[in-house]
Amino acid sequence: MSNAAFTRLPGFRDFVPEDLAVRSHIFEAWRRVSRRYGFQEYDGPPLETLELYVEKSGEEIVSQLYNFTDKGDREVSLRPEMTPSLARILADRSRALPKPIRWFSIPQLFRYERQQRGRLREHFQWNVDVVGESEVGADAEILAVALDALRELGLGPEAIRARVSDRRLLSALLQTAGVPEDRLLAAYAVIDKVEREPPEKTLERLQDEAGVTPAQAGEILALFQNPGLDRVADRFGDQEAVAAEVERLRDYFSILEAMELGDFVEFDLTIVRGLAYYTGIVFEIFDRAGELRAICGGGRYDRLLERVGGESLPAVGFGMGDVVLTELLRERALLPDLGRELDYFVVSVGDEARRRALQLAHRLREQGARVAYSLRGQGVRKQFKSAESEGAREVIVLGPEELSQGIARVRDMTSGEEREVQLEELERGP
Ligand code: HAM
Repeated sequence: MSNAAFTRLPGFRDFVPEDLAVRSHIFEAWRRVSRRYGFQEYDGPPLETLELYVEKSGEEIVSQLYNFTDKGDREVSLRPEMTPSLARILADRSRALPKPIRWFSIPQLFRYERQQRGRLREHFQWNVDVVGESEVGADAEILAVALDALRELGLGPEAIRARVSDRRLLSALLQTAGVPEDRLLAAYAVIDKVEREPPEKTLERLQDEAGVTPAQAGEILALFQNPGLDRVADRFGDQEAVAAEVERLRDYFSILEAMELGDFVEFDLTIVRGLAYYTGIVFEIFDRAGELRAICGGGRYDRLLERVGGESLPAVGFGMGDVVLTELLRERALLPDLGRELDYFVVSVGDEARRRALQLAHRLREQGARVAYSLRGQGVRKQFKSAESEGAREVIVLGPEELSQGIARVRDMTSGEEREVQLEELERGP
């Protein structure tokens, strides 16, 4: 069989050490920031029952499932997102947990998507969720976690922005404009695409799918062409339902201002989110240049837990993918030099020195130093070449002469400076 038979599946990645170093760099920032906000890490299985996603996630994701019938005749699916698993895990346990529950996870997820820039068939997604708090302070905290992680990775308000809306506000506005309640989800789906479709198409879809008249469709479209929160308040603030929603969003923005994150956030009524379970404030984070797909998306989903059979608990959270984020960090030269690093490479000359070198390396490793040496007898020049290609900071040279004096020569590979160090001292460590 030729090698071509074993190419990687489209949309999947290998992580050779350089790529894995980038992934780890991002994961470490995600974990640091999660812990700073008091979140605990959890995980679940990559394979779940198909049923968990059907209806709970919404049509778009269900059409992208990697699902099959297992050998026990169960309908199963690789997880396309983490939120249904979180709801399932908490359905059994939430009653015993103090609220609010603050959990995070970094699962690998699988979606059979059409491959395009920033979209693959697997990705890692940092999920951060607060469960058991309905007040807007939880919504603001969640966005703050996401923004802080991006700041931690070097992305400031000049590079990224969070676009925020609220499904409750959108629903009040759409109902005011004549959309019947049972067509709201259909209307959201049209609004979700409003940026990517020509206005005529949106008008047509609003009439066909959301059940409104041409005049009403025109009124709805106008909302999205002029979507400042103040304008919404001016035009519709006399409607009680709308006024309450505007007030809550103002609270939300003022909390983020107080956290000095105001420069990152803006109100944007076109943000709806594709998933079916959101019930309140929703947001997406994008690169400012607008070249890439969303880095992160999330929002409030107050009814999912009870729909999965658990306690009725409000919840809010987000997912941030590694694919678009890595692209953006690379584009902005924000990835540190993540090459291979060794503290010492031990070069030995002759059999006796080689034995002593093994002992020395072992002791240095016990102290936590990163140490390597040639795995076969080689000339000094070859050993130095290996030291260089393996990225050693210092080279320790041991030969018969050094051994007889109980010393080693240590060369700094950056400056080229060499010094003599007592072997015992070297073994004792710093
Ligand atoms: P989502 O918007 O489907 O939300 O995904 C969140 C992020 O994951 C996206 O903004 C994107 O960065 C990344 N992502 C999604 N699909 C792909 C893909 N095929 N390839 C690369 N990256 C991708 C959710 O999944 C929600 N469950 C998030 C959530 C948690 N909501 C509340 N809690």
